[in-house]
Amino acid sequence: MIEVGCPSPDDTRALARRLASLVRPDDVLLLKGPLGAGKTVFTGGLAEGLGVQEQVTSPTFVLTRRYDGFMPLVHADLYRIGSSAEIEDLDLLGEAVGGLLVVEWGDVVENQFGADHLVVDIIPDDDETRHIRLIPHGTWCDRPLNEVSV
Ligand SMILES: Nc1ncnc2c1ncn2[C@@H]1O[C@H](COP(=O)(O)OP(=O)(O)OP(=O)(O)O)[C@@H](O)[C@H]1O
Ligand SMILES: [Mg+2]
Repeated sequence: MIEVGCPSPDDTRALARRLASLVRPDDVLLLKGPLGAGKTVFTGGLAEGLGVQEQVTSPTFVLTRRYDGFMPLVHADLYRIGSSAEIEDLDLLGEAVGGLLVVEWGDVVENQFGADHLVVDIIPDDDETRHIRLIPHGTWCDRPLNEVSV
């Protein structure tokens, strides 16, 4: 696990942009943190790093949005979803085959996303700073997360 301090939204976006360089097809990132923590900002940085031209906006009302970059990016937000059965029905993994699946509030059903995933925990401080923890599982444990922390 590594933790990176991000004093501004630009720092959060830049961290995510660097993390995008470690992403492989079929990866899963589960974003965690309270309302307004910066999960969508972080996803915007991932999109930039993957060469997506479009602006990332919150998928809260549509549940998922898909963007095309060097590989597809599927961005989901489970905040309004009631049950884990409903989440299974969404078949997010199927929708993101060959691409990167990023799930806001995905940590609440972490076991549905398989052994290989990265949890990104965004912890707000009492100012604008966010402490962002990258918590690897499975194959993520072998990737050089320390390289993206600087
Ligand atoms: N260091 C920071 N990193 C990221 N966002 C920050 C930071 N400081 C302030 N912000 C602001 O916090 C807000 C984060 O909003 P964002 O929509 O990304 O949060 P979210 O975690 O996706 O919320 P929700 O749970 O409602 O989807 C933005 O308005 C952003 O400008
Ligand atoms: Mg959001």
